[in-house]
Amino acid sequence: MKKLSALLCLFILALAFPALAAPPPVPTDPLPVKGSKKEVMFPHVPHQKVECVVCHHKVEGKENFQKCATAGCHDNLTEKKGEKSLYAVMHTKEGLKYQTCIQCHAKVVAEKEELKKELLGCAKSKCHP
Ligand code: HEC
Ligand code: HEC
Repeated sequence: MKKLSALLCLFILALAFPALAAPPPVPTDPLPVKGSKKEVMFPHVPHQKVECVVCHHKVEGKENFQKCATAGCHDNLTEKKGEKSLYAVMHTKEGLKYQTCIQCHAKVVAEKEELKKELLGCAKSKCHP
């Protein structure tokens, strides 16, 4: 009986706090990164080998899948520096708490030189086609 009520408790907790439940399904189609000045269609499929938490980093110890530019997060859409800057968390090469797009793509390109324009370029790259 005790076991059953413990399970019931967990179930109710999971309902009350979706963050404790399973992660949301991975979007299958490329989706626009909200707030970007130059449109970026982010594709999850080529990032399948990267753990969700690398990009959807924990917030106050908890898993989170909010938009990067959620109010109070990386919601500064004009500055190019600092953790509040959406631009910075996508492009900074080093020194931020979490890995940025460019930081990881630089490592990929170090091994696959032919992807340089696609993954590190600006105009006509795969990020900003
Ligand atoms: C390489 C980085 C990266 C990885 C790895 C990644 N995502 Fe994402 N994900 C993103 C970006 C960027 C967005 C768009 C966020 C925005 O618009 O601010 C996104 C958006 C999402 C959204 C939509 C959120 C919304 O409110 O519309 C979901 C759901 C999601 N990801 C789930 C996952 C899951 C589950 C995993 C792991 C299996 C995962 N992602 C792995 C970068 C990543
Ligand atoms: C932890 C590493 C990592 C991070 C972080 C990362 N990427 Fe990637 N990205 C990759 C790898 C690996 C590939 C596939 C390279 C290949 O083709 O072999 C890739 C490919 C891409 C492609 C090209 C897909 C295609 O059609 O070929 C786009 C666009 C892209 N990433 C956008 C982003 C954006 C935007 C972010 C940040 C929100 C991001 N990536 C963060 C590792 C990463």
